[in-house]
Amino acid sequence: MSSKKTSFVVAVVGATGAVGREMLRTLEERKFPVSRLVALASKRSAGQVLPFAGSEVVVAELGPKSFEGVDVALFSAGASVAREYGPVAAKSGAVVIDNSSAWRMDPEVPLVVPEVNMAAAESRPKGIIANPNCSTIQMVVALKPLHDAARVKHIVVSTYQATSGKGHAAVEDLLAQAKDVLAGKDVTPSVFPGQIAFNVLSDWKAGDMDYSEEEWKMVHETRKIMGDDAIGVSPTTVRVPVVNGHSESVHVQFHRPMSAEEAKRLLKGADGVVLMDEPYAPGKMPTPAKASGTDPVYVGRVRDDIAVKGALNLWIVADNLKKGAALNAVQIAEKLFVR
Ligand code: A2P
Repeated sequence: MSSKKTSFVVAVVGATGAVGREMLRTLEERKFPVSRLVALASKRSAGQVLPFAGSEVVVAELGPKSFEGVDVALFSAGASVAREYGPVAAKSGAVVIDNSSAWRMDPEVPLVVPEVNMAAAESRPKGIIANPNCSTIQMVVALKPLHDAARVKHIVVSTYQATSGKGHAAVEDLLAQAKDVLAGKDVTPSVFPGQIAFNVLSDWKAGDMDYSEEEWKMVHETRKIMGDDAIGVSPTTVRVPVVNGHSESVHVQFHRPMSAEEAKRLLKGADGVVLMDEPYAPGKMPTPAKASGTDPVYVGRVRDDIAVKGALNLWIVADNLKKGAALNAVQIAEKLFVR
């Protein structure tokens, strides 16, 4: 990376996908200084035209020569594409920021949330930086100011994850299923392993000890990002029939007691956080519908735990395609290249 450059060649791998499209929108919205945008996807989408910055870009098929002259490559095309082409892009001189799970737990790859551990991005021996899992990002943004004050000991988290986190086709599946249910027909799932419309699912890949892979991501990634292997995480991840926006119920215990009052003080104005601290009233709390299309991590329902003294309960909501994916990746690029 030349420190003199003021605009950059940016590649988006998976540009036609749910996160890839959001990456294009985010680069445009935040006026990232793009001298040339290279939109890449599979052979299926080659030639497709996508809107970008008041103009259009033509999607090209991803290949070994795709990264010539590219300064930063934002990947969101799944783990196998990232495993194969991440090193190709890095070798040709691009800084790779990958949204898949492929590189996240590699000790030579920093796993970065700018509000929490931006300094980690400075050491990237493979030329690759990993963007964490969407559920982990919003949780650590909210917990970081509390962790700095009282050191998090144990987190019990249940997620309510939107269909967009599984990609564009998953949202289409939800909408088609909803139409079928409303028409009184049986649903025929195309992406989910069963009915998601008017239902909730656990659709993740199985992992060790009867926890899903998604649940293990929250365990390992939280520890790596927070730089604290002693943090205990007890996760349950659930898919809900929401188009976009992840919600989380989080119970958190600390190494010293923390009150809801202190937590609210710490969260007010914290980097990336919007605290919604009105007293509980029906309808007055963060919702995915309101968070969708916006940047912040919304924290509401900050309560002293009733049973465990000095512990807290929080409700955390964010746009999983933005802060949970595209925005986080673009923010990393901004910190490295622009400011
Ligand atoms: P394509 O649209 O050509 O299939 P989503 O997460 O919404 O499902 O999107 C996945 C993204 O990753 C899409 O842009 C998709 O492109 C891209 N992708 C999937 N497989 C490949 C591949 N083998 N090579 C390049 N891009 C891929």
